[in-house]
Amino acid sequence: MKKDPIEVFDTWVSLGKDSGMEKNHSEAVENMISFATDKCGKFSFIDAGCGNGWVVRNVSKMSNCVTAVGIDGAENMILKAKGEDPLNHYFCDNLMNWTPNEKVDIVHSMEVLYYLQNPQKLIKHIYKNWLKENARLIIGIDFYFENTISHSWPEYCGISIMQLFPESTWKKFFIESGFRNIESWRVGAKKDWTGTLVVTGIK
Ligand SMILES: C[S@@+](CC[C@H](N)C(=O)[O-])C[C@H]1O[C@@H](n2cnc3c(N)ncnc32)[C@H](O)[C@@H]1O
Repeated sequence: MKKDPIEVFDTWVSLGKDSGMEKNHSEAVENMISFATDKCGKFSFIDAGCGNGWVVRNVSKMSNCVTAVGIDGAENMILKAKGEDPLNHYFCDNLMNWTPNEKVDIVHSMEVLYYLQNPQKLIKHIYKNWLKENARLIIGIDFYFENTISHSWPEYCGISIMQLFPESTWKKFFIESGFRNIESWRVGAKKDWTGTLVVTGIK
């Protein structure tokens, strides 16, 4: 029987697989963060589906970062994040239900949105309730239609919700949510791997 994504990732902490994600995602995340923060003044930041909080810890050290917050549904991920980082704020909640106390300048999310039953609903929720005017959402995903090598992952991982869409559909979700200046590109493509798909837009 396949399991709910949050349940599966919750077990990844005791298995030590959360650190593997930092290693595997860092090239794409560095690209995303440097794009989102380039020529940016002071900024506030949320990592949606932050796992063990490694991106929040790194971004919070940037001199122009005012606040960095992590949110994830997996309790053990958040416990680890809080244990390693008493300075920044971490919340354990479902992304669909959570709203920040204050809207922010940048919402980042790496390898999370396709685990949602309705990713477009979350993109709309972030647009409406998480982002200031002129703020940016930037997402990275490895499981998408053009990356054919990823198609076998749902069987391999035993996760119940993994939504497979082409790049054009991910961009359509941004357009239909009201974003402007939408851009997409891929990071780290090689041989049978088409790279992390990055999609971003401005509110
Ligand atoms: C592949 S991991 C990526 C973690 C982190 N972004 C990283 O790069 O290390 C996906 C994360 O999304 C979280 N997640 C998935 N669906 C969620 C939901 N509906 N609400 C909150 N967190 C969710 C999982 O608990 C997991 O920690």
